[in-house]
Amino acid sequence: MPESKMTRKRLIDNLNDDLSREYQAIIAYVAYSQALKGAQYMNIATELEAHAKQELQHALIIAKQIDYLGGSPSVTPKPVKAPGKNEAMLRADLDNENETVRNYRARVRECEALGEYAIAEDIREILRQEQEHQIDLATALGEEVPDVSKSGRD
Ligand SMILES: [Fe+2]
Ligand SMILES: [Fe+2]
Repeated sequence: MPESKMTRKRLIDNLNDDLSREYQAIIAYVAYSQALKGAQYMNIATELEAHAKQELQHALIIAKQIDYLGGSPSVTPKPVKAPGKNEAMLRADLDNENETVRNYRARVRECEALGEYAIAEDIREILRQEQEHQIDLATALGEEVPDVSKSGRD
């Protein structure tokens, strides 16, 4: 949506969507870090445990921003795929991180359009960590980090 149409209400709704994605990430990283099997996956399993903790910190920051803006924080995660084959779990995580990065890039612009510069700064810091998560997952899958900047959605 064009930033000129941004309102505080829309920003709260979008941040609640972000919060639901953070819950999704926490659940997926908790479950998948333990469900990965095989010696060659133990390094990435340890990284996923570290991601889970970072996603919890993100959720707390986003919930605080929603409350600051006068909204009520979501308690509902986006859907999480049940644990399966190693590669399928890493693929699901990477897909979710791509969606998260797309959204936080848009959110920085929306915050700035509303003059909410401090929130934009917090989200930039979260975004930096989400991009590291993308790199960790793409590397584990033996791929380049996908370019999500030309999706047309942000
Ligand atoms: Fe996150
Ligand atoms: Fe992440």
